[in-house]
Amino acid sequence: MIGPNTAAAVAGGAYIAAALLFILSLAGLSKHDTSRRGVGFGIAGMAIALAATVWLTVAGAWGSPSGTIGLVLLVAAVLIGGAIGLWRARVVEMTGMPELIALLHSFVGLAAVLVGWNGHLAAGDVPAQLVDIHHAEVFIGVFIGAVTFTGSIVAFLKLSGRMSSTPLMLPGKNVLNVGALVAFLALTVWYVIAPSLGLLIAVTLLALALGWHLVASIGGGDMPVVVSMLNSYSGWAAAAAGFLLNNDLLIVTGALVGSSGAYLSYIMCKAMNRSFLSVIAGGFGIEAPRGDDEVAGEHRETDAASVAELLASARSVIITPGYGMAVAQAQYPVAELTAALRARGVEVRFGIHPVAGRLPGHMNVLLAEAKVPYDIVLELDEINDDFSDTDVVLVIGANDTVNPAAAEDPGSPIAGMPVLHVWEAANVIVFKRSMASGYAGVQNPLFFRENTQMLFGDAKDRVDDILRALTV
Ligand code: TAP
Repeated sequence: MIGPNTAAAVAGGAYIAAALLFILSLAGLSKHDTSRRGVGFGIAGMAIALAATVWLTVAGAWGSPSGTIGLVLLVAAVLIGGAIGLWRARVVEMTGMPELIALLHSFVGLAAVLVGWNGHLAAGDVPAQLVDIHHAEVFIGVFIGAVTFTGSIVAFLKLSGRMSSTPLMLPGKNVLNVGALVAFLALTVWYVIAPSLGLLIAVTLLALALGWHLVASIGGGDMPVVVSMLNSYSGWAAAAAGFLLNNDLLIVTGALVGSSGAYLSYIMCKAMNRSFLSVIAGGFGIEAPRGDDEVAGEHRETDAASVAELLASARSVIITPGYGMAVAQAQYPVAELTAALRARGVEVRFGIHPVAGRLPGHMNVLLAEAKVPYDIVLELDEINDDFSDTDVVLVIGANDTVNPAAAEDPGSPIAGMPVLHVWEAANVIVFKRSMASGYAGVQNPLFFRENTQMLFGDAKDRVDDILRALTV
């Protein structure tokens, strides 16, 4: 028979080990060559955390009917949730990852709301001297959880194209956001003094509306920041649930996710030259995109055989991949093309924009998957000055991240966002299927420049064609 103190001590030790593994995991994930180890640490930490939680429940279930019910519910939840998670993870396309992540964040938010509501119902069991703190935890947990829940659902809808990525421009939107925060603070004080179900319902509805409005107000181009911001919110929601459940690991893990997500949002904002506070506050001051109807002139088309010829005679080539490479799954032929050109003595490098694709590090993951050597994959800052000295740039499924309007047109919705200066190269080949605009819905004057040629079609098919033409 295991005593409750022994069970708690064993679980506490396991939680500390798991928390350390999560910290090592984050450290490992910060560099290419240690990222695999980082994932390993994360998996090990999560396995230990799950085992310790099951252990605590089993130890608590011994001889108590409510404990047995808890154990049955836990096993059922793990089996059902695990099966759905495994199925989704197996079928999800790499391009669908951001929306899946947004959906998973919404679950964290919902869980925090449910834990908060449960905390309200169970307030009678809390010692009198802690009851005020408990009520504050309930209220704050429900608020953060509900904002995360609806915010993540809107992000999911926008990222999956089920909702327009144009920012919602309600009149007085900043006043609405600030007003909601002030109302939350006032309601929190009221609830701590005189807790009631009505106040809890009021804060839940207020936070659900605020979460929806915050993310709906953010334009397509700023979605990368939103994804990492919701990641951060979901961490704080989990930490709030940890306080209520008296679970140290949830508090530590939530704080790790919350702070690393906030830091990632800050890095994203810097990469996009946006003010961190304005995006966090729900697109404060962001203008609505002007739309896609301004045509900037004539474009020139080319074919795979001509591009192969151009590449064969080039001295230096830079490849700038974007979301279209992920859609086409063109990373494998791109890696083959790179190897073929390097074997001929052509210098080939990659220029990676920090928000290329649909999730942080998207392009790096794809290129690593196709075994492109890390040392030729360079960040925007490392390669931007080299375009003017480059013979050919292959823009493979990138659009917003190579749009000169960001650098040259102060009226553009993406004005100020750092972009890859591909247009400075001698020749630019753009791989895409049509003249459609990119994610931010902004037309791209690059397509109409004199040194640009369009290679239309699916990026994978076109790169395969070039490879064939190179080898005959
Ligand atoms: P985008 O601006 O999204 O443009 C991708 C281009 O790929 C499109 O113009 C599309 O043109 C083309 N394309 C799609 N499927 C293709 C295929 N099978 N073959 C060839 N081309 C294909 O790409 P980007 O430059 O990577 O920019 C990323 C954008 O997403 C930015 O606005 C960024 O803010 C936003 N965003 C990024 C993230 C993160 S964290 N990275 C998260 C959310 C949003 P066609 O349709 O004509 O083929």
